[in-house]
Amino acid sequence: MNSDRTKMPAPDRRLCVAPMMDWTDRHCRHFHRHVAPGALLFSEMVTADAVIHGDRDRLLAQAPEDVGAGVSVALQLGGSDPARLAEATRLAADYGYAEINLNVGCPSDRVQSGRFGACLMAEPGLVADCMAAMRAATDLPVTVKCRIGIDNMDPEAGLDDFIDAVAGAGVKVVYLHARKAWLSGLSPKENRDVPPLDYDRAARLAKGRPDLDIILNGGLDTVDAVMRERPRFAGVMLGRAAYRTPMILAELLAAMDGDAVPARVEIADRMADYADRRGAEGVPLHTITRHMLGLYHGQRGARMWRRHLGEEARNRRDGGTLIRELAAACEAMATGMAA
Ligand SMILES: Cc1cc2nc3c(=O)[nH]c(=O)nc-3n(C[C@H](O)[C@H](O)[C@H](O)COP(=O)(O)O)c2cc1C
Repeated sequence: MNSDRTKMPAPDRRLCVAPMMDWTDRHCRHFHRHVAPGALLFSEMVTADAVIHGDRDRLLAQAPEDVGAGVSVALQLGGSDPARLAEATRLAADYGYAEINLNVGCPSDRVQSGRFGACLMAEPGLVADCMAAMRAATDLPVTVKCRIGIDNMDPEAGLDDFIDAVAGAGVKVVYLHARKAWLSGLSPKENRDVPPLDYDRAARLAKGRPDLDIILNGGLDTVDAVMRERPRFAGVMLGRAAYRTPMILAELLAAMDGDAVPARVEIADRMADYADRRGAEGVPLHTITRHMLGLYHGQRGARMWRRHLGEEARNRRDGGTLIRELAAACEAMATGMAA
């Protein structure tokens, strides 16, 4: 799995798919690659300790088709120990990632007790030390993903101080989930919806720090919303919308660059081949198809696709055939040819 880092293309961050635990695994990323070849895709968060002590191939290996194929993937690490983050960064070098990112935005209790994630926004000096250590361990870009603040932190001065500290450590790219994290009283899920979004605060940061690339994240779920906000930022990052309604990524590339929107049936066909290759290696079909349930969202046949793919993937071994059959049925429904 060795990658030649000198050949790694610089990531294009104008359109990014957010890191999402349990969702953006290698199969999901392979699917998104076919939907939006130009997007920068993120891994799930992996803790530095897991990289150092765990089953590295299982945690870090990408779909073999995606390594060296011009697909940009950022690895997101979690942790707050500079030496361990540096070690994890070094160990990740052979897995073909285009960028290493530090999670300073995740509010879960498990993450807080390990003293990483969003609670680190209160410790800009420590985050700067982490970023500096990671930068010293790799030639790849080292970036951070954070919120606009936590709890009672002043979202103006507090965020500026935090960004000054990480920029002082050489970070040039910040993915900004444009709401606070409230660390007590809200579940991680509520923390993605309840604290209000403040795109204007994010835009003030972008305007005040033209030396940094600020990528806007949080609540972007329509092409119109993205096209409205993107002129103020170096890029946008979509999480839940990318997962639930993946074709929005293709529509965005079409709106941004005039790219052709790939046909759903072609994406399904490529994923059918992929499912067959992984199936031959013993990968359970549903671990791949669970990420594809939104492919026909908004189309006739969407419900049939979602239900049959969801249910039958657990029992069928001929994954490619199942995916092709269901896609053909959806296409027939869309053109009114179904019985
Ligand atoms: C299921 C799920 C898992 C997530 N896991 C992570 C994670 O591992 N690291 C991280 O920085 N953010 C994580 N997030 C937050 C997203 O990256 C993103 O910041 C958030 O969902 C807001 O963007 P959205 O409104 O476009 O979804 C997760 C979100 C979801 C829905």
